[in-house]
Amino acid sequence: MRISVIGCGYLGAVHAAAMASLGHEVVGIDVDEAKIEALRAGIAPFHEPGLPELLTEAGATGRLRFSSDIAAAAEATVHFIAVGTPQVRGSNAADLTYVDAALADLLPHLAPGDVVVGKSTVPVGTAARMQDVLAEGAPGAILAWNPEFLREGFAVKDSLTPDRIVVGLPRDADAAATAEAAMREVYADALATDTPLVLTDFATAELVKVAANAFLATKISFINAMAEIAEATDADVTQLADAIGFDARIGRRFLGAGVGFGGGCLPKDIRGFIARAEELGRAESVAFLKEVDAINLRRRQKVVDHVVDLLDGEPFGKKVAVLGLAFKPHSDDVRDSPALDVAVRLKGLGADVRATDPYAIPNARRLHPQLDFRESFDDTVADADVVVLVTEWDEYRYLDPGALGEVVAQRRVVDGRNSYDPAAWHAAGWTYRGLGRPQLGE
Ligand code: UDX
Repeated sequence: MRISVIGCGYLGAVHAAAMASLGHEVVGIDVDEAKIEALRAGIAPFHEPGLPELLTEAGATGRLRFSSDIAAAAEATVHFIAVGTPQVRGSNAADLTYVDAALADLLPHLAPGDVVVGKSTVPVGTAARMQDVLAEGAPGAILAWNPEFLREGFAVKDSLTPDRIVVGLPRDADAAATAEAAMREVYADALATDTPLVLTDFATAELVKVAANAFLATKISFINAMAEIAEATDADVTQLADAIGFDARIGRRFLGAGVGFGGGCLPKDIRGFIARAEELGRAESVAFLKEVDAINLRRRQKVVDHVVDLLDGEPFGKKVAVLGLAFKPHSDDVRDSPALDVAVRLKGLGADVRATDPYAIPNARRLHPQLDFRESFDDTVADADVVVLVTEWDEYRYLDPGALGEVVAQRRVVDGRNSYDPAAWHAAGWTYRGLGRPQLGE
């Protein structure tokens, strides 16, 4: 298939490279010249394991090209729209400016029978509106909706071997048949290995994506709510999660209590869902998502409170080593990152914050140049009064508390991801604070 992918961010760049590696002829298009230059040179513009290799491999076949000119889409017959839908400033709603602009720019380059495939996460009802725009501006072109479920850090694997493929098709039977045939060809490899394919309507396809993310966010906030109860009762939320997780109906995944969720998807998607439900007159149906959001944000403050508590209520001028800035390991993404938020809040209290991360420092610095970033782990923890783990990169998870204890000023740790064995750290002389776990020391 000849494919264009509009938008080469976390989603589009990976999708373009994955499609080319599956044998399709692909052009990735983005308005950001610098990003296009990097991708042309086989350099991933963000940290995503496996992406540089995929870009190099696919680039070498000649099947993967990048362009900043939307006219390059004219050669393709299937066009994926993979631009961002960030949260509108000062509102919960999703900003559709980039989606609308991508479609408007694409219109003059479409031919009858071309299939435009929406991949961006959008409020339900967007596809129907876009179909009207398409009918007006490019008669004969067909819309399909194919939400993406890739996780940052595992995006290459999730793109090449998705756990399901969801396609929303138009109501018109002929258009639906053309769109379905195109999607079956695009995803032929995955379908050959029996990947489930859900063929549905636009609204369901749009909702599947936000419902999945709302569910995951709810699961995390559920266990974090249990952590709050555990804190009031001296119970241990990690044991509680293990115990309920053995129930196959519940499952242990996404029951990691800690500083909470962040990133470019979960927070903005639940807020966008709240805003859209309000527009639909169904605010009460997802009112619980406001609690999910509130529980999540409270956990950030809890980590800060633990730090202040360990500093006897006087954080001013104290050295605080913050381990992690990305919203999760294996990513350099700091959008709505709980780790970065904790660093900023501590800095706001006057603490001498030194923050580190294996990959996310450049992105964090762009947002918060006032913070003191340290490339070196040793620099970050030297003479620290408190060590705070907020992104559970392996290099921070598997620290030796004995060795670390030799270089800090005070053996005090706040484990914002419940990654450490409290007993082992306590035995090495540390005062330990986790989230929803019994506190050890002082
Ligand atoms: C998510 C969805 O998983 C993915 O399917 C969708 O396409 C995009 O949004 P992603 O944002 O990459 O993917 O991150 P995810 O792995 O879901 O983690 C989200 C956040 O939840 C991270 O901040 C992570 O640290 C946090 N988290 C995850 C927890 O706090 N506890 C857990 O048990 C799991």
